[in-house]
Amino acid sequence: MSHLLPNLAILGLQWGDEGKGKLVDLVAGKFRNVVRFQGGNNAGHTVVVDGQSFALHQVPSGALHAGCFLVVGSGVVLNLEVFKQELDHLKERGIDVSSRLLMSEKAHIILPHHIALDRWREGGTSVKIGTTGRGIGPAYEMKAARMGLRLGDLKLPDCLADRIRQGYEEVCIRLGSTCDLPPLDVIVKDLLRIAEPILPFIGNTQEHLFDAWKKGESILYEGAQATLLDIDHGTYPFVTSSNCTLGGLFAGTGLPPKALDKIVGVGKAYTTRVGEGPFPSELKDATGQRIREVGREFGTTTGRPRRCGWFDAAIMAHACRTNGVDGLGLMKLDVLDGLPEVGLVTGYADGEGGVTRTLPSCAADWDQLKPVVKYFKGWTDSTRGVTELSRLPLEARAYLDALTEASETPIAYLSTGPERHEGFAWPGSFLESVLA
Ligand code: IMP
Repeated sequence: MSHLLPNLAILGLQWGDEGKGKLVDLVAGKFRNVVRFQGGNNAGHTVVVDGQSFALHQVPSGALHAGCFLVVGSGVVLNLEVFKQELDHLKERGIDVSSRLLMSEKAHIILPHHIALDRWREGGTSVKIGTTGRGIGPAYEMKAARMGLRLGDLKLPDCLADRIRQGYEEVCIRLGSTCDLPPLDVIVKDLLRIAEPILPFIGNTQEHLFDAWKKGESILYEGAQATLLDIDHGTYPFVTSSNCTLGGLFAGTGLPPKALDKIVGVGKAYTTRVGEGPFPSELKDATGQRIREVGREFGTTTGRPRRCGWFDAAIMAHACRTNGVDGLGLMKLDVLDGLPEVGLVTGYADGEGGVTRTLPSCAADWDQLKPVVKYFKGWTDSTRGVTELSRLPLEARAYLDALTEASETPIAYLSTGPERHEGFAWPGSFLESVLA
């Protein structure tokens, strides 16, 4: 490693919306390359700068730093119209990324029939996942079925209709009389029009990143969604359709594991989830409601209210192991200010008087879990904006000590509010030098 910064991955540990965007934005200014490697516009990263809020869905969060080169890797699925809107929106606010953006020719395109199929399924009688309705699942599905369209295909406009036809026709048959998709030639024409301004940014991101790595340029890998939404290691079938865990980083960039030095896992000081599916530590009471209101827990992408619950250390330990996390980015501690007591799920009752921390593989078993909650005395002093460990209330310290021990991972960064300056690198952690 010829550069001083570690090549860093920032990954979600819970069910998404942990605040990865803030952490990425905080460190991104130090990195030469910022890479998205999976997911699509189901992601929503909110970054607050000087009171201005930026909601990024597909553009890497490094966009707000003029020195960052932005890379969209091959594991991403893209809605080009939304991508273009995002670029325009940034431009309107004085941020032009056109000289520092490269998108993988191998990344797949989300097409109108993917979105139609996603929404049709969600309205149907089969298992309702509560997707974002952005066509993510069908886009990955068509990729695996070898009926997908990649950014690189746009260079051959005459072949597009043939590439898309089978997937399009299969969706039309499935949707039957409810299908209101435009004819295929219209979809292709629209696609070419929408893609036109994007074409200059399409290229070989694998080569770019490999060269960058070999030259010793720093690389920041920005995860989307999170471990419990991972298609293999999450709460299947209530998951997204990509690998949001560490393995997805290598598949979605084409880089080897040696091109990564440190991993920050991001989680909130409590837990949230949007959409359907198991959530053992969920609070369906006034406390859950309070966390939702104080934490403004409404989706960046869909505006849906998020389900809220206590921090679940069994889930966090699983996520830290799965991703090899070196340090936690612990977000939104301030949201718990003023609660009379704060709960921490340490594991689940094993039915024989003991506690298990092994997570089930089957959805039905998740529903049977009985969380074991340890309660901590709350704190009355505000932690909002605290930037020094010594200024945290003692009760908050006791809670954090228990949380890190139960998660089997130390804290590397603590966030105490949405703004860039609200929070601090944990003394002695590897993020201290990155953030210095
Ligand atoms: P999809 O990714 O739109 O297919 O949605 C599948 C599941 O993942 C749903 O429960 C969504 O709510 C959830 N999901 C997808 N992206 C995000 C995200 O960025 N944050 C939180 N949940 C997400």
